[in-house]
Amino acid sequence: MVKPIIAPSLLAGDFANLGCDCHRMFDCGSDWVHLDVMDGHFVPNITMGPPIISSLRKSVPRDELNPGKFFFDCHMMVSNPEQWVPEIANAGGDQYTFHYESTKNPLNLVKLIKENGMKAACAIKPGTNVDVLFDLAPHLDMALIMTVEPGFGGQKFMANMMPKVEELRKRFPNLNIQVDGGLGKGTVEIAAEAGANVIVAGTSVFKATDPSQMIEYLRNEVQK
Ligand code: DX5
Ligand code: ZN
Repeated sequence: MVKPIIAPSLLAGDFANLGCDCHRMFDCGSDWVHLDVMDGHFVPNITMGPPIISSLRKSVPRDELNPGKFFFDCHMMVSNPEQWVPEIANAGGDQYTFHYESTKNPLNLVKLIKENGMKAACAIKPGTNVDVLFDLAPHLDMALIMTVEPGFGGQKFMANMMPKVEELRKRFPNLNIQVDGGLGKGTVEIAAEAGANVIVAGTSVFKATDPSQMIEYLRNEVQK
């Protein structure tokens, strides 16, 4: 059985204080932090890259006694994702999520990511059919079904993506299935019901009066 994983997206944080926000999220009980890397080419926005991730890793070092703690989930919204694998690994990324739409050879990329010591995940945009993941899924640590068009936080959750999650869950009962975009109270219920177990939440967690309570709420909804 898959377990609930809550991954607040630092995209909704304060970019002048990302280290503090990263610490704050882990203190508030988040399992992972979600780092949105955008290159202004694959998506029409530019955010952070390896130097920022490396600084964040210095601020939040890995716990040698507890591997898997302080997990950096790197969502790579970039063209040519092969190019950044070694740099993200060296910067301290734990998981590398590439977009299916950005590569000619997803299986080779998965191998490259694993050779570089990271977990490998593949994301699909709202317009991409879930079928493309069926052959790849056995090689993946996680699949990401986007519930908004990638590029910006604060967009509306697309409930019509849920059949993709349902189909994937039916075929792969033990796969981590992540949803990203517009998740919070009122939408996490729908995603959890469809079978998602990894919840990315930017706006809902960072704008909450009590982020720990919101993280707890999201986790409870997945656990139900
Ligand atoms: C969008 C990013 C998301 C974003 C989610 O392209 O991939 O991770 O931060 O933000 P919210 O939760 O505000 O929709
Ligand atoms: Zn993301």
